[in-house]
This record gives sequence, C-alpha cells and structure tokens, in this order.
Amino acid sequence: MLLQKQDFKKRIGCIGAGYVGGPTMAVIAAQCPDYSVTVVDINEKRIAAWNTDNLPIYEPGLLDVVKKARGRNLFFSTDVNAAIRESDVLFVSVNTPTKTFGEGAGKAADLQYWEETARNIIKASNSDKIIVEKSTLPVRTADAMDRILNANDKGIHFEVLSNPEFLAEGTAIEDLLHPERVLVGSRETETGLKARREIVDIYTNWVDRSKIITSNVWSAELSKLVANAFLAQRISSINSISALCEKTEADVGEVSYAIGTDKRIGSKFLNPSVGFGGSCFKKDILNLVYICEHYGLHEVASYWESVVRMNDYQIRRFVLTMVQSMFSTVSRKRIVLLGFAFKADTGDTRESPAIYVAKKLMDEQARLVISDPQALDNARHDLREHAAKIEFEKDPYKASRGAHALAVMTEWKEYKDLDFEKIFAAMEKPAFVFDGRNILDHRRLFEIGFNVYPIGKPPMSHF
Ligand code: NAD
Ligand code: UDX
Repeated sequence: MLLQKQDFKKRIGCIGAGYVGGPTMAVIAAQCPDYSVTVVDINEKRIAAWNTDNLPIYEPGLLDVVKKARGRNLFFSTDVNAAIRESDVLFVSVNTPTKTFGEGAGKAADLQYWEETARNIIKASNSDKIIVEKSTLPVRTADAMDRILNANDKGIHFEVLSNPEFLAEGTAIEDLLHPERVLVGSRETETGLKARREIVDIYTNWVDRSKIITSNVWSAELSKLVANAFLAQRISSINSISALCEKTEADVGEVSYAIGTDKRIGSKFLNPSVGFGGSCFKKDILNLVYICEHYGLHEVASYWESVVRMNDYQIRRFVLTMVQSMFSTVSRKRIVLLGFAFKADTGDTRESPAIYVAKKLMDEQARLVISDPQALDNARHDLREHAAKIEFEKDPYKASRGAHALAVMTEWKEYKDLDFEKIFAAMEKPAFVFDGRNILDHRRLFEIGFNVYPIGKPPMSHF
C-alpha cells in the first residue's frame, strides 16, 4: 500500500500516535505543506480516532491544526511498514515507561517498544533513513539504536538523531508553534551533520533559527531528562517548604512570590500543589537515578531520587490532613474530588496525584465522587477495581450535593468561578474544602461557612 501518494518535497513518518506523536506531527504538517507526514500506531482505536473529529486526546487548539492538514499532507494509519518504507525521515515517539519487571524494575526505562520499533525499521526499510528520537530516552540510547539498526544486512545506512520534545500537555499546540527552543542532537560526523541540517530545515519553516539549538547526540538525550528533573525539583522544593509553612504560620504563596521575584530564581514552577503528576516527571527522574546508579554515582542518584520521595510525601500528607481535620475519620463520608487530570486543560490522568488520593480515601471507606470536565473516562479506567463504589459526575454542583468535603485536585479554571454559596447550601455540615492547588478564594469560602485547608497556609476553621 502506498500511503504518501503525492510528490512531496520530503516524506516524514512518525511511529507512535500518542500525546507527543499526534500533536507534534500535526504541527509539522500544518507548518510545512510541501512535506507529507504520516503518523502510524499499532493501536487501531487510536488511529481510527485521529481520523475523526473526536480525537483520542484533549488538547486546546489541536483539532483546528489537525483539520488544517489532515488528508492534505497529514495522514494517520496503522500500516507501520508502509510508513517506514516510504519515509526519508522517521520520528519515533513510542512510549518509554518505567520498567516494571527484571533488572532496573521501578526505575529504568522500559525500552521494549523502542527496540521493537528499531527491528520493524530494519525489516521494512529499503533505503537510507534518518531516525529521530522524539521519545525521552536514557542517555546513550542512540548508540544502542545505531548498533541494532546498522547491523542490517541490506547495506542501508541509518543515521540516529535526538530531537527531544519539550511540549507540556494542556499547552502542546502553543508550545509547538512557539517553542522556547528546539534541540537537535546528532553525531558530529559528515553523515551526522548532514542529517542534523535536514532536521533543522524542517523546523526553520516556522521556528526562528536562533531558537534551534544543535548539539552532540548525547547532550540532546541527557538535556531532556535533566530539564524534567530540574522542573520537578522546583515543585518538590516549594512543596517541601509548604510543609514548613503549615507549622510556622508562614504563607507559602507569599514565600513563593518573594523568592520568585529574584531573577536568578524566577517565578515559574513555584506553585505548591498536592504533588506533581503526569507521565514524564517521575519516570524521567527515576530513569536519571537509574543511569547514575549504573555509573556508580550513588550520591547523585540519591540526590535526584529525593525529588520523587518529596513528591510522594506531599501527596500522602494531603490525605493525612484531610482525614485528621475531619475528626480522624472519613468513613462513609461523601467526598468530592474536583478534578482528576494531572493538570488542567488535559484529560490525561497518568500518574495523577488524584489516583493515589482516591485510593487512600477508599481505603478509609469514604464515599467518593469524582468530577472532571475531561478526564472521567480515564478516571473510570484508573479506578476500575473500585468503580462500582465510586460515583463519576461531571457537574460539580450535582457532585457536591450531600457531600461532607470537596478536594481540589486539578487547577481547572472553571472551579474558581463556581457558585460556592449554592454548593455550601447543598452540603452536609460542617463542610470542608481541601484546596490541593491553592486556586480558590480561601477567605471568601471561610466567610461562606466552609472549613478551609489550603496547601502551605494556615487553615481557616470555624472550630
Ligand atoms: P503515548 O503512550 O501517549 O503514545 C505512544 C504511542 O506509541 C502509543 O499510542 C502506542 O500504541 C505506540 N506504540 C508503541 N509501540 C509501538 C510500535 N512498535 N509501533 C507503533 N506504535 C507503537 O506516549 P506519549 O505521552 O506520546 O510519550 C511518548 C514519548 O514522548 C515518551 O518517551 C515520553 O517520555 C515522551 N514525551 C512525552 C511528553 C508528554 O507530555 N506526554 C512530552 C515530551 C516527551
Ligand atoms: C512536563 C514538562 O513541563 C515538559 O516540558 C515535558 O516535555 C513533559 O513533562 P507535563 O508533564 O505535560 O510537562 O506538564 P507540566 O506543566 O510540567 O506539569 C507537571 C506536573 O507538575 C503537573 O501535575 C502540574 O500540575 C505540576 N505542577 C506544575 C505543580 O505542581 N506546580 C507548578 O508550579 C507547576
């Protein structure tokens, strides 16, 4: 089967049509009409959804970008072999989760999908290709890939590059259209530098050349892990201080503002929370930890591992505060989780702190109601073992009827504008709010009658 029928300047393929492959390739196709872009996946349901207006992931602005290019120079297919065969450049954005078995279980990256892809590439190729690592991978993966791919007996040359993706979910399209930087790492050989120029050329269609950073392939691979580790470290740092604030009557919001105005520190990623979630931070830090251990750098490993430990502590601490402040029992109390996604503007719930909070509250025999504008299907799946006992209700007003407590898990904008007087009137008394994102107007909630428990600020209680 010929997927890319027309004569395009360049034929790009992407293996993996997930949160990264889908939006990234949609933007490349939309910005480069003379390139054809084919995204393939083994997941038939996902591909079928990419070919409808009911896309498999929720991301603001994504549908418009897809519609602009789909059928013109953007194609979604399950024919992985055809896409490999027909592409000059192949991006690989398959999942690289934490290994759950064998050596390195719980920390190392599980590279089985990546390696399977490499073997498919060898089988289906009949011409030289540039292979681009889009997935986040351990440093030196390109070396292993290079060895696997170039051990082929067809005389084909594969040049392996690293072009890690820095998009954040919820702002993926904005991040892709206006990236702070694009990183392209290659070997510094003749073929490596030529391939590097080809990838840079794709991005210069819409990204200023000054924002495209080129480096050696190992620096590119490592930079991605390090960027996520540093971002997560900031959240763990401020979350550690939120615990101290709760003991000392300092206000973490004020502390965060005061330190963030120092240019050397900066104000971003200093929002205290119930904990960070998402498919990247924990997995990438643990991967970094594993690599450091592998090289015998035990102190370095333990330094980075503490970022994850602090996050686990913050989530546990949140549930403990809930139980203790509700007279040390939540048994049979109706508790509403406002939000289940790991952050706002996405339906993704991978590693969402809400999963842990929900399970802990179920252990305490609470009656749970989960509310979220986009993530209820994923929430149902995450909590499938308990699903029969949990109510899933999109409408926060219906969800809070007869509830003893609300707990904000996700910073959805609409939660700030809820009519809390109406909600309070329909709740059991005393009514509690636990704001895991510090997004609500706590003073006002207290005046309405709620007992309010923010993160890192003195609680406001009527007792
Ligand atoms: P995902 O699970 O949403 O998508 C991966 C897709 O790859 C799946 O649809 C899966 O079916 C497909 N796949 C797996 N093996 C395949 C094979 N052999 N052939 C064809 N398709 C195959 O994952 P994601 O969130 O898109 O992440 C992909 C990579 O990008 C990961 O390495 C991740 O760390 C990295 N990354 C993710 C984000 C993010 O915000 N999600 C941001 C930057 C980087
Ligand atoms: C992250 C990186 O930001 C992105 O560059 C990388 O490509 C993929 O991983 P993502 O996981 O999609 O992106 O979302 P991000 O905005 O980083 O948020 C991660 C978690 O941290 C969320 O749970 C978020 O709510 C939390 N967070 C973020 C905080 O708790 N406080 C903050 O100040 C910022």
